[in-house]
Amino acid sequence: MLEIRNVTRRFGKTVAVNGVALEIPQGQMVGIIGRSGAGKSTLLRMINRLIDPSHGSIFFAGTEVSSLRGSTLRRWQRDCAMIFQQFNLVPRLDVLTNVLLGRLNHRPTALNLLNIFSREERAMAISALERLDIAQTALQRAGTLSGGQQQRVAIARALMQQPRMILADEPIASLDPLNAKVVMDALRDINLREGITVITNLHTLDTARNYCERIIGMAGGKVVFDGAPEELTREAVRMVYGADSDGAEISEAITSTSIRGEKPRKIAARTALKPALAEA
Ligand SMILES: Nc1ncnc2c1ncn2[C@@H]1O[C@H](COP(=O)(O)OP(=O)(O)OP(=O)(O)O)[C@@H](O)[C@H]1O
Ligand SMILES: [Mg+2]
Repeated sequence: MLEIRNVTRRFGKTVAVNGVALEIPQGQMVGIIGRSGAGKSTLLRMINRLIDPSHGSIFFAGTEVSSLRGSTLRRWQRDCAMIFQQFNLVPRLDVLTNVLLGRLNHRPTALNLLNIFSREERAMAISALERLDIAQTALQRAGTLSGGQQQRVAIARALMQQPRMILADEPIASLDPLNAKVVMDALRDINLREGITVITNLHTLDTARNYCERIIGMAGGKVVFDGAPEELTREAVRMVYGADSDGAEISEAITSTSIRGEKPRKIAARTALKPALAEA
């Protein structure tokens, strides 16, 4: 169980996250939605301690992770692997080496230690790549892969950390629909088969609805919706995205990953869904 207890984060006068309290049981697949600037990334980054709360605390399995230091902090950061929109691979290194770096996560001397990987670790890396269906790219330089392939390498690298949780910050925002589906399918498969908690920021409602058992909507740093996809009514969508925007109809059909053969649904609420490539 991950417990976020009344967490606030300020940047100067900006309150990026404002008194958020959440309990996330192990093994849940959670989607966080909200407009640009709602505080989604800040919340994820506090969980993995890339940044620290200004107030409040975060617990995992009874341990206060928001006060860990040194080696116990590094262990926590290995326990919650991060996936980013821009993949964060080392483009000049081959895919296999990028995946192996998951074993050395957060060690500054990683690149000097490349030849210490054991045969077992290499086998583990290959099987992670096989699982994501990209083993054939193992010896290619990571920078030569397509975006979808790179994100799969990033997931394989995350698996090498043997994490208890995967925190994904808009993992499909830079991908085309087919690759977006492959990446979301992979995250769901890991969640279901390994029981690894997945918490992912998503900029498309339909992806959150289709993949996540729980959706958390943020607005202005606060949680304004927390429930199952079925509970995310048009009114709830308005609360999350605001009814004050420019009047453009949200069309979930324009978003990229409608799957399960469902007909694209349209929602007439008005919103400011950010374009997929806004941050690219
Ligand atoms: N390092 C920082 N320094 C100053 N302000 C920051 C910093 N990080 C975030 N903020 C501010 O905090 C607020 C929340 O930002 P955050 O990145 O968490 O939003 P988000 O929901 O992830 O948005 P997006 O959908 O655009 O990624 C914004 O007003 C942002 O400008
Ligand atoms: Mg963000």
